[in-house]
Amino acid sequence: MSASIPSPEYIKIHHAHRQFMTPEGGIINALDNISLSIAQSEFITLLGPSGCGKTTLLKIIAGFEELDSGDILLDGQSIIQQPAHKRPVNTVFQSYALFPHMTVGDNVGYGLDIAKVNKVERNQRVAEALTMVGLSGIEQRLPSQLSGGQQQRVALARAIINRPKLLLLDEPLSALDKNLRLQMQLELKNLQTELGICFIFVTHDQEEALTMSDQIVVLNSGKIDQIGTPDEIYHTPKTEFVARFIGESNILSGMVISKSENGVNIDCNGCTIFSHDQTLKLGEEVKLLLRPEHLSLTPNELEGPQAQLTMTLNQTVFVGSDYQLHGELSNGLPFSALTRKTNTPLIKGQQLTLYYQVDALHTIPAKQKSIKGHI
Ligand SMILES: Nc1ncnc2c1ncn2[C@@H]1O[C@H](COP(=O)(O)OP(=O)(O)O)[C@@H](O)[C@H]1O
Ligand SMILES: [Mg+2]
Repeated sequence: MSASIPSPEYIKIHHAHRQFMTPEGGIINALDNISLSIAQSEFITLLGPSGCGKTTLLKIIAGFEELDSGDILLDGQSIIQQPAHKRPVNTVFQSYALFPHMTVGDNVGYGLDIAKVNKVERNQRVAEALTMVGLSGIEQRLPSQLSGGQQQRVALARAIINRPKLLLLDEPLSALDKNLRLQMQLELKNLQTELGICFIFVTHDQEEALTMSDQIVVLNSGKIDQIGTPDEIYHTPKTEFVARFIGESNILSGMVISKSENGVNIDCNGCTIFSHDQTLKLGEEVKLLLRPEHLSLTPNELEGPQAQLTMTLNQTVFVGSDYQLHGELSNGLPFSALTRKTNTPLIKGQQLTLYYQVDALHTIPAKQKSIKGHI
């Protein structure tokens, strides 16, 4: 294969399985038959709630934890027999784990000192790594003289200095305040592009995943529910879990009650929803996803075919540029919409007509399976 073409299977996780015993003697499948391919210079995010197996997978790739069964290949070679320090992989943790008594320069250069790289090259590479993370000229400071954001940058510089082929990042931004986190998200993405290496980033924050990733892997209790681009994960979630975890969502359960050449009518406990999904069969049970931003208080023909619903308004929340409208449908189920400033009076208890874009309605099969060993 030509070196200039990124391999779509640079890292291959093959049927990875890992169990733990609970203190009560039960068994947890932290990783339940995970298969995944990652391209050479891809920014991939493992996303899921606490306890879904993200850190376990990173530790196994780094060599800090072992698999019960399965394999991990890097550039076609299995790495699971290699000790952690021999793998071309570095990890950045949430806690920066800097040596407090050592200067920034010595923290960053530590790996090169261990490898006995000569002083001139070592100092040059320390300076380069610090420049890459936007911190040039602070080699002589101690970690305690830096802000949290700066300490995390030093940890990043230390992790990239020995030019790993793969960087693992376990919730590295979660200790930072929101503004700094947003800034660091963009910086990390730029750094990954500049280095051209693969980043496997772990977060439980869906916005962070959507902002930064080329691909997102949504983990649910040790299994992969979906692998896709941020756009795919957001607009076409394969499971209800993914739909609920990513973004705001209205999810309705229903059954197809009539079909015509225009589309299908789906009864959701007394509310009828119209869909263009011609693959649905009469009598089929489905879950429907309608994002709040796909609802509006005024019809807009430019947005394509629209249909309507009635919601009783319970609460209006001003969120800057938009209003969140929370209420319930005629069947009593909670529902919400997001609209721009409107001339329609928004009074609690009022019945609102909400128009939805029929083409924005997404259908999730009522019975879904997690992706098991999809390769
Ligand atoms: N060393 C361990 N011993 C026992 N259980 C563990 C161990 N490591 C992880 N687990 C369990 O495995 C599951 C996945 O953990 P983890 O990978 O840390 O999740 P995440 O990083 O997604 O929050 C959790 O239920 C956790 O309690
Ligand atoms: Mg974790």
